[in-house]
Amino acid sequence: MQHLKIETLRWVSDHLEMIDQRMLPAEFKYIPAYSADEMANCIRDMVVRGAPAIGVAAAYGVALEALKLKHLPSEQFHQEIAMGFEQLAKSRPTAVNLFWALNRMKGRLVSIAEKSSESIAYELLVLAKEIHEDDIRINRAMGAYGAKLLKDGDRVLTHCNAGALATAGHGTALGVIRSAVEAGKRISVIADETRPFLQGARLTAWEMVQEQIPVTLITDNMAGFMMANGEVDAVIVGADRVAANGDVANKVGTYMVAVLAQRHNIPFYVACPLSTVDLGTRSGKEIVIEERAAEEVMGFRDYQWAAQGVKIRNPAFDITAVDLITALITENGVIVNPTLEKIAGLARLNKLL
Ligand code: MRU
Repeated sequence: MQHLKIETLRWVSDHLEMIDQRMLPAEFKYIPAYSADEMANCIRDMVVRGAPAIGVAAAYGVALEALKLKHLPSEQFHQEIAMGFEQLAKSRPTAVNLFWALNRMKGRLVSIAEKSSESIAYELLVLAKEIHEDDIRINRAMGAYGAKLLKDGDRVLTHCNAGALATAGHGTALGVIRSAVEAGKRISVIADETRPFLQGARLTAWEMVQEQIPVTLITDNMAGFMMANGEVDAVIVGADRVAANGDVANKVGTYMVAVLAQRHNIPFYVACPLSTVDLGTRSGKEIVIEERAAEEVMGFRDYQWAAQGVKIRNPAFDITAVDLITALITENGVIVNPTLEKIAGLARLNKLL
């Protein structure tokens, strides 16, 4: 069977195209973005989602805005691009990769501020492309470290989608699984459906089916049954933000899975690039959790099944405390029993400090 190449984001002559992840798996189509405003809408509406992919998209958002403004005189260019940064920063609050990418773009902008608007625009595009390519390389490095933690025959439960679709390619949690499969291990995946946006059912299951990696879909409330029944050997998830003490923000429901894994002595791994580590946030308590529209909980797309008038909560992420995490898998190595000191040490190696 021929694999469909998953290019989550692709630069096409003068604009960025993204797979519309709201439509998968029913429809496979690309959506273009030509400005920071359009990119911010794509991030907010979840055309593109997943922490690393959001970071790459935001970097391109800045480059697109700069290209749009490249004929403006310097002062006006700088005023308007500052607004582009603001629009992108407001798109989603939890994944730190968004702010990490914007900071990298801003750092470059400041360092070349004296150049012509046109040269700045092209240099920002080069940096966005670099961030894009780096993400794939980083995922592969993480995959190689993480694959060693899995045994031949392991049944790995994952929550949400931390795959190629959530990154520039390969994936974080699914990247570890892909790398283990490439290394010749027979790995099967148990995908939590991931209510309410169904990233597990729609995206993780789709990615695994494309590659013929055995995958079983369950609803979120079946994870405990599967673990108690001895059907899960390891859990691997991604992360949207890792606080300095090792607490992890990830898709809502992750915390529930981590508590269950501890109860059943199943290792719980978090695969995250170091750009997801936020040393400026001391613990999970300080992480802003995005609250999304009530309609997502009331039903799906046009079909609403909840009783009209009911009060709804829709936090998109939750916090898994560090003591529930067996190890963080990063591109610079695995941090077993993460602590502030171990995380800071690895981040320092990566010049994050
Ligand atoms: O709301 P989403 O779909 O953007 O949430 C995505 C997740 O929570 C992922 O697990 C996380 O971003 C890691 S992706 C490599």
